[in-house]
Amino acid sequence: MLPRCAFSVCHVLMLVLCLSAAEDFDWTKNDHGSFYYGTFPAGFSWGAGSSAYQTEGAWDKDGKGLSIWDVFSHKKGKIQQNETGDSSCEGYYKVKDDVSLMKELKLNHYRFSISWPRLLPTGIKSDHINEKGIQHYDQLIDHLLENKITPIVTLYHWDLPQVLQEKYGGWQNISMVNHFNEFANLCFERFGNRVKYWITFNNPWSVAVEGYETGEHAPGLKLRGTGAYRAAHHIIKAHAKVWHTYDTQWRAKQKGLVGISLSGDWGEPVDISNQKDIEAAERYVQFYLGWFATPIFHGDYPQVMKDFIGRKSVQQGLGTSRLPTFSPQEKSYIKGTCDFLGVGHFTTRYITQKNNPSGRSSSSSYFSDRDLAELVDPRWPDPGSEWLYSVPWGFRRLLNFVKTQYGNPMIYVTENGVSEKMLCTELCDDWRIQYYKDYINEMLKAIKDGVNVKGYTAWSLLDKFEWDEGYSERFGLYYVDFRNKNKPRYPKASVQFYKRVISSNGFPNQREVENWRRKAVETCSSSNQLLAADPLTSHMEMVTEIVVPTVCTLSILLSAIFLMFLLRRRN
Ligand code: BGC
Repeated sequence: MLPRCAFSVCHVLMLVLCLSAAEDFDWTKNDHGSFYYGTFPAGFSWGAGSSAYQTEGAWDKDGKGLSIWDVFSHKKGKIQQNETGDSSCEGYYKVKDDVSLMKELKLNHYRFSISWPRLLPTGIKSDHINEKGIQHYDQLIDHLLENKITPIVTLYHWDLPQVLQEKYGGWQNISMVNHFNEFANLCFERFGNRVKYWITFNNPWSVAVEGYETGEHAPGLKLRGTGAYRAAHHIIKAHAKVWHTYDTQWRAKQKGLVGISLSGDWGEPVDISNQKDIEAAERYVQFYLGWFATPIFHGDYPQVMKDFIGRKSVQQGLGTSRLPTFSPQEKSYIKGTCDFLGVGHFTTRYITQKNNPSGRSSSSSYFSDRDLAELVDPRWPDPGSEWLYSVPWGFRRLLNFVKTQYGNPMIYVTENGVSEKMLCTELCDDWRIQYYKDYINEMLKAIKDGVNVKGYTAWSLLDKFEWDEGYSERFGLYYVDFRNKNKPRYPKASVQFYKRVISSNGFPNQREVENWRRKAVETCSSSNQLLAADPLTSHMEMVTEIVVPTVCTLSILLSAIFLMFLLRRRN
């Protein structure tokens, strides 16, 4: 028998073990259901986001040059309904209005991007600096600061100057590294006295894969199996160079931070007891977020990418891997170039192992290199974009993955939100409230797990141009009536809800949180619907113009048939 004191020592030991285990995230447990009531650490920063091409409009005004998105969206068949960002939300002209929306929300920060061709019309600094473009961002930054809203500024949210695409092939060409660095340097010089948070690239995965592999995004190239890897390689180098520029030339004076915003879905193994599925799911995340994060935090691509792409390249008869390599000097230059990590996250996939035969190099692709299949649970809600299923627990898992893989870096969530497909006014976005509530809650749990999340950015402040989807998907907290030339904004119910999360810095208790939700939906169905009456009526008029003649024609036709029927019966 154990002596009493030994028993209590054991008991205490077990308790300590249990407690420390509770701090570590348990990857095998799937406690999806429970809601955690509590608040965020003091000083947690709440924000909303946007990007230049998606909201500014004014595509050819005040000396702005063309971007690859201006050109791409004007080509027939690239964007739903052939829509463009030419005028979009007219954000260029509505700085004051939009900052008052942010104030209404009580935001701590606003994330926006600078349009490179608005500052440098050809993309090249020595050609010409467009002072009017500088003035626009000066005005926005000043106005934010006057209202105590911290600007978080992205340097590249996909709108590469068209001249750089035409002259050099865009991100396929290493010369982009220096051009981008010059542009970034100009931004540090002109805005860095006021901007303290810089994001070099937004979601480089999309730039590489959708811009240079599938061609769904600008510049629309389909260089399968090589284009995305090459673009990513240059983007990573460009990011590192800009970080070093800030570090050596500006940091001491300006005392800001430079990070990158990486997007990543979470990948969960279909069968958590199957080693092959576990490895496939890990591969999914490594080919996504890890592709960029691993070089930046550890100096080189994830081993699994090097192995898979390398092996397939050999099988395809190529002398070298389709995945480019970093020299030892480049590795140490790139490693550690991140003061904070921006994380963009929307959704999750189930992943299972699936072998893709290597075939010839002409049939290679980023997707087949991964040897996996993506699945979704049909019970997951998907109110908007077809790729966007609401799976809140995946968010906590992704955040914990970042913590364990990259040494618990400082994180700002730079994008998280949900769209809706309805084209008509719909201000009672109950499902968006649900999405935000659950995703923000999973982020809170991740913070309790020890993940170092400092801020959260709801995506997005306004409905806006959704790239190849045009205006058919709406991510905004504020509804924008695109049919009206003035592009008026109307608050959706989620504005009320998010505002309360912000002012309580989290979820104080069940009673209050449920109350917020009820109130938000109540307000929207009364007063907010009145606000929406305008766009609704104009929409109805549009429909009547088409429907009325059709109904008339139909009634005439029906009467004729009926008459013929009567006449026949008489005969
Ligand atoms: C992009 C945003 C876009 C969102 C939804 C993100 O990855 O950075 O610009 O609005 O996806 O499509």
